[in-house]
This record gives sequence, structure tokens and C-alpha cells, in this order.
Amino acid sequence: MQTNDDSRILASVTAPDLGIDSGECQATPRSEPCIIVIMGATGDLTARKLIPALFNLYLNGGLPESFQIVGCGRTKSDSAEFRKKMETALEASPMKEPAMWQDFAPALHYQIIDYENPDSYNGLAESLRNLDRKNNTRGNRIFYIALPPILYKTVARMIGRAGLSAEMTDGNGWSRIVVEKPFGTDLQTAVELDRSLHEYFKEHQVFRIDHYLAKETVQNVLMFRFANALFEPIWNRRYVDHVSITANETLGVEHRAGYYEHTGVLRDMFQNHMMQLLALTAMEPPSRFEDELVRDEKTKVFRALRPFPVNNLWEYLVLGQYDAGSIKGKPVPAYREEPDVDPNSITPTFAMMKVYLDNWRWQGVPFYLTSGKRLNKKLTEIAIQFKTVPYAMFRHVLGEEILANRLTMGIHPEEKITLSFQTKNPGARVCLRTVTMDFHYDQNYTGPTLDAYEKVLIDCMLGDQMLFWRQDSVERCWSFLTPILQECETCDNREQILHLYESGSRGPRAAQRLFEKKSFRSEA
Ligand code: BG6
Repeated sequence: MQTNDDSRILASVTAPDLGIDSGECQATPRSEPCIIVIMGATGDLTARKLIPALFNLYLNGGLPESFQIVGCGRTKSDSAEFRKKMETALEASPMKEPAMWQDFAPALHYQIIDYENPDSYNGLAESLRNLDRKNNTRGNRIFYIALPPILYKTVARMIGRAGLSAEMTDGNGWSRIVVEKPFGTDLQTAVELDRSLHEYFKEHQVFRIDHYLAKETVQNVLMFRFANALFEPIWNRRYVDHVSITANETLGVEHRAGYYEHTGVLRDMFQNHMMQLLALTAMEPPSRFEDELVRDEKTKVFRALRPFPVNNLWEYLVLGQYDAGSIKGKPVPAYREEPDVDPNSITPTFAMMKVYLDNWRWQGVPFYLTSGKRLNKKLTEIAIQFKTVPYAMFRHVLGEEILANRLTMGIHPEEKITLSFQTKNPGARVCLRTVTMDFHYDQNYTGPTLDAYEKVLIDCMLGDQMLFWRQDSVERCWSFLTPILQECETCDNREQILHLYESGSRGPRAAQRLFEKKSFRSEA
């Protein structure tokens, strides 16, 4: 046992699993043979995430029996050079089973493409058909668009015009397109992007990635809530005081200023990851665990978002930007001093937002959503703060203050679930102590785990859209956020409303004040 700085006592006990053997857990079915086409093969995402994920899937038997990978890029190169580059990238983080690379590498190919030239796509179509013939990949294709969003529309259209989006015709099997957030920069651009994707692809062919949804612990939120009878009856306004959803980082903008300067934390984290965490925490149980039904329930949460009081924005929103400071003892520059950032930038790198859901379950319960860069620690979690006991029976010995129960679903760094509660402190004096029951996600589990990109690639090959955004949800979230963004980006005192915070700190003090104000009881 130990005491942490919250003066809570952690009773860490490893309990035996009473559930099924991990071996009994159903293995994912193997997908049909297919070709994975990566648009943007010379980019960072391909080398850092996609090829490592595909190689790991290969090692763990997660790829179809027959598969090919075609990397497309503008850069003049060839398949041999592409394979070498990918091998070098994999070696940067110790490669698992390097000997297997020699087996895997021949499935990698490189094709030069001019993204705006239809002839390029006709050439690609021809190459894909040849690969199908040689490898029996049956015309099934995934087009993974690992390119800047500005190119999404053009590339989707060109793929369609080359006849590659049509399914079950002209030698094609199924065809899917994968896009990463951001899905537009506001409601209007999101609708426009969707319209372009739908010129040639139908909704069941569009996979909008949010890597948060593929995190094991995030997937677990629904299991935890709906496979246990214990928590759901108290998961509502009668028992819950407030909910805090946090995604804090120690990293700064890194080399992404070109993207981040126009995006800021609200578009980068809130429009997608934070909204998904909110939906999973707040949604009603679907009648079956199926992609459309789960996504229907999420959309209902977004529909219930109370429009933000833009006239009184600063009562509900705190924006910040990191100043110089230090992270793990090392000095780090201010956001405005980062390479390619405007020295007068007013892009927010931190936000805390208090939102309400207008429905029966959550009426009056504030949800605090917080995310920021260059904070004191990397912490991603969902915390359900329950109400205090209705009557302080121990007041004459212990005083009025009895800490309320708190349930924390840790996503990073610790994948765990913690429930805090009160017990009697051993000894003659009557006093309480807060203890916790902890479940660590890897407890009693030694099997393989999937990285988020591995999971999304598998689901995409299987055509399962459960962990991907549906357009109605995207639009709902933009409808909620766009007025906030408009107000923040056009108001006269933009600079004053941006609170500078020291790198390595806990964020702007104003955020703490917003949280402490918690006037939610009167608002309820
Ligand atoms: C990305 C954002 O989507 O998520 C990044 O663009 C952010 O700015 C990242 O750093 C955080 O992801 P994770 O998995 O590290 O919490």
C-alpha cells in the first residue's frame, strides 16, 4: 500500500480472472484476399504507422492469405527502393522477427502517381488488374488516403473515374476508401468533402478513421458499461455529479506546424477523439452490438449536445497556448517559437470545455472535456465523479466532507479501471480513508494486443464500420463546434482570451477556475 499525492490509498490486489480463458476468445475471421493501395506512400504515416501495422498483422496471421500492398507517390522511385525504405523505417523501432521481412517484402510495390492526372489512375488500374491475376486478390481493394486532406476530394474522384470504386463489375470485387480526420474544417467543408467522396463511393465503402476508437481501452467502455449489471443503474444524473474526459499530452506541435496552425486543438482533438469518448460514455445501449446500431446511438448523443452559449462563451470554454517551459527537466520552446509557427500565432494548443447533454439521463450533469499539448504529463482518461452521500451520518466525528466515489477509465499511460471508495481506517480513532479497486487491462492476459492502426486495417479489410465515423455524426459534431470556432476566430479580443501556460504545467489557471466554478447545481 502507498499514499499518492491525492492522499488516497491504493490497495493494489491482483485478483484471478473468473471469466473465459483467453484462448476461448473468438479469433477474428480472416478477410478475403485484397490489395491495399496506399496513396501517399512516401509520407510519414506510411513509414511510421501503416507498413509497421501491416507487417505486424502479417506476423500474427491477421492479413488475408493472399494480399498485395501498392504504395503510390509522386516521388520517382521503384518497388526495390520502396521496400528498402520501409525496411529501414521498421528497423528504427526494433523490428519483430526481421527474418520474416524477406517473406513479406515481395508483396510491396511502388507506383508513381500524379494525383491530378487521370492517366496515372488508368495506369494504376492496369497494375492492380495485373496483380489480381498473378496473386488471386480477386479485385478487392482498399484505397488508404494517407495524404493531406486538401487532396482527398481529387484523389477520391480520380479513383472513381478510373473505374476503381465500382464494386463487383469489370473485374472489381469490393472497393473501400479510407480517410483520416480532419473531415473538413467546419460544417460546410465537411459536407462538401462528403459530397465528393460520394460521387463515386457509397457510404458502406467509406471508412473514416479515428484512431482513438481502435484503442483497446476505448473499445472496452461499452463492454464495461453494458456487460455489467452493476454500473448502468447509477450511470445517470441521479448519481453522477460530473464527468471529466481528458486527453493531455507532453508533446508539442512537433513538425506539424503547417497543419496545426490552421487547425488548433478544437479541430485537432475535440471534433473527433473527444467527441467519440463523450459518445461512448454517454450513449444509451443499442439493441444489438452492430455497427449501424452502435453508431445510431452515438449520433443521438451528438444530437443531444446543448448548443454552446456563444454569447457567454468564456463561462464554458478556456483556450490556452503553451509558452516556454520544461518537460522532464528539458527546456522546451514556446509554441510561437516552434519551427514554421507564426511568432504572433493565436492558435490554441489547449482547451477545456464544459458541455451538457439535453436528455433524460444526463440533464444538468456537466461534462468537462480537456485536451492540451505540452502539459505536465501524458494522460488520457474518462472519470465519472459520483455524487456525495445524501446525508453525512458521520458528521459529528468526521465532519461534513466525505469524498464521493470516482470511477476512472484510464486509457493512457495506464490502461486500467479504478473505483475509489471510503473505508474505515484501521485503528482506534474513527476516521475514513479513500481506497481504490483497480483492474489493470493486461492483468492475467498474455496474448497479443493490437495497435490501433492494426485494428482499423483489419476492420476495414473485413468491412466492419463499427469503429469508424459515420457522416451524420461528423456533421452533428461540426454543427456543435462550428459556431464556437466562428466566435473564437472572429471575436475582437482573440489575443486576450488565449491564456498562455508554461510548458510542463497543468495548463492555464483559468481552466482550474472553470472547473471549480461548477455552478452546475444551479444550472441543473
Ligand atoms: C492526433 C492528433 O489525432 O492524436 C495529435 O492529430 C495528437 O495532435 C494525437 O497528438 C494524440 O493521440 P494519442 O493516441 O497519442 O493520444
